[in-house]
Amino acid sequence: MCFFRFIIVKERMITLELLELQQIEEINALEEQNTVVKMDHVSKTYQNGNIAVSNINLTIREGEFLSFVGPSGCGKSTIFKMISGLVEPSKGSIEIFGAPPKKFRENSTDIAFVFQDSTLLPWRKVIDNVMLPLEIRGMPKKVCVEKAYQVLELVGLKNYINVLPRHLSGGMKMRVSIARALISKPKLLLMDEPFGALDEITRQNLQYELLNIWKKHRMTVLFITHNVFEAVYLSTKIAVMTPSPGKIASLVDVPFSYSREDEFRNTHEFSDLVAKVSNRLKH
Ligand SMILES: Nc1ncnc2c1ncn2[C@@H]1O[C@H](COP(=O)(O)OP(=O)(O)OP(=O)(O)O)[C@@H](O)[C@H]1O
Ligand SMILES: [Mg+2]
Repeated sequence: MCFFRFIIVKERMITLELLELQQIEEINALEEQNTVVKMDHVSKTYQNGNIAVSNINLTIREGEFLSFVGPSGCGKSTIFKMISGLVEPSKGSIEIFGAPPKKFRENSTDIAFVFQDSTLLPWRKVIDNVMLPLEIRGMPKKVCVEKAYQVLELVGLKNYINVLPRHLSGGMKMRVSIARALISKPKLLLMDEPFGALDEITRQNLQYELLNIWKKHRMTVLFITHNVFEAVYLSTKIAVMTPSPGKIASLVDVPFSYSREDEFRNTHEFSDLVAKVSNRLKH
């Protein structure tokens, strides 16, 4: 009798242990699922011997807004090129949603880019520029127009759909460029100094609008900027890089809630964090 009871208790213990193991596996799977970008000991030396980045380890989770700040030439754009599969790392590995970057980009519209230069086609009207990514994928014209109109409304340009790019201001061109990136509803948006060429007021307006779009679409944004104020205003996290060859000197959490209204820029917490990030950049 005693022997049988022992067996039953032992069986229960084993079942409990198995359950715990299963739960741990489920948690691990969830963490993996939430990883958008994983860079593991990544270095890049270009063919001419230029060492762009060295030993980058970075895990970016779903829904993050991560900004990269660092001196010119420290490899920020190279990191983006590797994430987008345009440049291969010399050492280490990168995964985007668990797949190699090149494969991910080829098979999916889940990644989009915005650069400092809005790169619009000058002969195409605003709406035709915006719907280009869908046209290339062979979507019916009616759907392309509908979706282009929706994203142009989102960036405040619904009254400019039939205008040519040369008749737009720099800020408006950038809005068109953002709309074009958003039209495929990307899960990962890479922005390389998108607001670098804009005046301060336009820049601040676009920062505010970008945060609204980010919250609405729940995408992950990677953002390069030389402007520490911009990085602190926008981000959930900031990667501060060392001079060339670039390494990540520190990852700084930005622990402030959204929405970040204009007054946020005047708070002590904001200036303290700007000072902290600026100091890390210097050392
Ligand atoms: N195609 C290339 N061939 C050789 N060297 C390159 C190439 N592209 C970039 N580099 C070098 O790699 C280093 C990093 O360049 P990268 O453009 O990534 O820097 P960055 O941080 O984006 O600079 P910036 O802030 O000025 O845009 C630099 O020394 C640059 O000269
Ligand atoms: Mg660059």
